[in-house]
Amino acid sequence: MLELRGLLAQRLEQRTHNPLVVGSNPTGPTKKFMCECRLLFFGDIVGHPGRVFLKEQLPALKDRYVPDFIFANGENATGGFGLNKAIAQELKNLGIDGITLGNHVWNQREFWNEIDQLDYVCRPLNLPEACPGNTSIVFEFKGHKLALMNLLGRAYSREALDCPYKTVQHQIEKLKQAGVDNFIVDVHAEATAEKYTLGWFLSGIEGVLGVVGTHTHIQTADERILNGTTAFICDLGMCGSYNSILGFKKEPILEKAITGKPCRFEVAKSPSIVAGVFIQLDLETHKAISIERIQILEAI
Ligand SMILES: [Fe+2]
Ligand SMILES: [Fe+2]
Repeated sequence: MLELRGLLAQRLEQRTHNPLVVGSNPTGPTKKFMCECRLLFFGDIVGHPGRVFLKEQLPALKDRYVPDFIFANGENATGGFGLNKAIAQELKNLGIDGITLGNHVWNQREFWNEIDQLDYVCRPLNLPEACPGNTSIVFEFKGHKLALMNLLGRAYSREALDCPYKTVQHQIEKLKQAGVDNFIVDVHAEATAEKYTLGWFLSGIEGVLGVVGTHTHIQTADERILNGTTAFICDLGMCGSYNSILGFKKEPILEKAITGKPCRFEVAKSPSIVAGVFIQLDLETHKAISIERIQILEAI
């Protein structure tokens, strides 16, 4: 009989013992958690269809995964471009504990003046320091402090950005001095190579338990644990219209691609998709235990 050894054997064993684990933990079957913390993290919410379908799906997802915290990227939540206070509060009322952003952070002009009122929202860390808004959100959990942060990648970016590596390292050092011992980072970036580079970099810093990519709106099938400590996925995908181009109406975008005619991006309609991950962490040992992809498609 064929005997499986090494990583593959470990992964198959995990699947047998725990159907929630999708071959994501290279450290072998998990010992008893010392301080288990369960997260749901959803990709870019795009406009009304994304918000409505996420709202519909959240009760069942909460029943299934019993999350301690729910995070989501909200950079497209208001009309497809940016976020404002009213929509941020709507998301908060759904049970979303922390909202990250991205390159569309200031698309809703009023948000520049609103963001400081929203302690559950954090803007990208490596924007100019003078920008308003939190650069991290700290959550208390069973004697530990978990910080959520948001970082912009530089590849293909038109923003004036500080170095993401130096900036996030400095921020983590500062937060550690304030007693924060665990970190989750939303890396909002275009290029898969840059996301992996940042993922490996961050997984080498003690206490970074999760690095999730956002921005491309297309979920990648590469969820894994980096360095035995850090749950990683290159992109969470989006919560938005399914028959679309990244959540936007495809017809004007097709016309622009074919003819060169300028077009306005408009949020497309339902049916929608909800995409994200479920992550199990151990805040005591500072290790991610598992990461599982979630994709739910709205019935037509
Ligand atoms: Fe983006
Ligand atoms: Fe986005």
